[in-house]
Amino acid sequence: MGDFETTMVDYCRRQFPALQRQENGRSAAFLDGPAGTQVPLGVIEAMTRYFTDCNANEGGLFGTSRQSDDWLQQAHQAFADLVGAEDPDEIVFGQNMTSLTYAFSRALAKTWNAGDEIIVTALDHDANISPWVQAAADHDVVVHWVDFKSTDYTLDLEQLAGKLSEKTRLVAVGCASNATGGINPVKQICSMAHQYNALVYLDAVHFGPHGLIDVADWDCDFLACSSYKFFGPHLGTLWGRRNLLEEVPAYKVRPASSRIPGKWMTGTPSHEAIVGGMACIDYLADIGRQVSGQDQAPRRQALQLAFEAIGEYERALTHYLLEGLARIPGIKVYGITEPSQLDQRFSTVSITHDAIATTDLAQRLADAGIYVWHGNYYALEFTDRLGLEPEGMVRIGLVHYNTFAEIDRLLEVVSHAAVAI
Ligand SMILES: Cc1ncc(COP(=O)(O)O)c(C=O)c1O
Repeated sequence: MGDFETTMVDYCRRQFPALQRQENGRSAAFLDGPAGTQVPLGVIEAMTRYFTDCNANEGGLFGTSRQSDDWLQQAHQAFADLVGAEDPDEIVFGQNMTSLTYAFSRALAKTWNAGDEIIVTALDHDANISPWVQAAADHDVVVHWVDFKSTDYTLDLEQLAGKLSEKTRLVAVGCASNATGGINPVKQICSMAHQYNALVYLDAVHFGPHGLIDVADWDCDFLACSSYKFFGPHLGTLWGRRNLLEEVPAYKVRPASSRIPGKWMTGTPSHEAIVGGMACIDYLADIGRQVSGQDQAPRRQALQLAFEAIGEYERALTHYLLEGLARIPGIKVYGITEPSQLDQRFSTVSITHDAIATTDLAQRLADAGIYVWHGNYYALEFTDRLGLEPEGMVRIGLVHYNTFAEIDRLLEVVSHAAVAI
């Protein structure tokens, strides 16, 4: 039994009121994290406090507006700490990752010329595909696709190498797949792209709840994430290099600031969500301090400690789940299953059964109070290329508040379903 399980799981679970939910006399098992995680009390309280203490628009000279501006500034710093950036002005808040990516793709595309090229991947969520493909079409830019390998469904880097050229303006790629749980070697991808002066736009939405984002080490140019996937409210965040955020012209209304990050934050953002987002980062940092006993660890260091512990625990959960699934006849797992390679994947496991429809399996689990997702979860290119449309796969998404006992419950339902046919 690992340290996290013995000391931290109960501590964490107690902070999530939603995990108390009962379904037909049993606790609900939230294995739907990749579609949206639950939120701890600290987030709920911070958002309530924003409304009670300082609900105001930006830039006023009076008390609530000043206090609100101060909190928002602190939130920019918290998100800079989360992604490993120095400069809080490099953090842009928006409605969600998809909307931010549409805004940035349109703006960046204005700097492209006909005949330029961009690269997208068949492993990505459509939010990091369609905005780029549509922007490319608007500007007569050529789109190249990188496929995944048929063996373990990881990205085909040789194909990427073959598609990069002096004409490549942008590579759009995910840090981790929300369909397979596979982690992409983004540092290597950035280095490959930069040899041709191509920019790299990373989708860290699926990476966020499981690993430490590090824009400085990865050397990417843009990175987008969504805090409702890592224990926060519905809020999109984009980090971009200062010079790019400054140089690329934004679509904005005239009175809005022409400085960063304001020039990218169209309209009045959800202040309460931004403050809630800061609180979810502090929740994660608190885990790092608790698990290490380093009470005074600065936030970035505490986040690193948290994700080390979370990663170890989630790998143990994944190992247990994969072992259990391997014992059930007819189950196919889409992603890395080799125990020695668990460090190359997160705890998101998509499956099909050769005789049970995906919807039926997800419904049986729902009836037993076990929440999983089914379909393509917008990783449409992946399910399409594998001929899995329209049913898709059942996705079991584990995060650090999930338990081995919940996996046992899931395995029992899936086994019964498989035996009953
Ligand atoms: C990997 C990935 N990228 C992007 C998105 C889109 O995020 P948002 O809902 O914030 O637009 C999702 C949402 O499921 C996702 O899983």
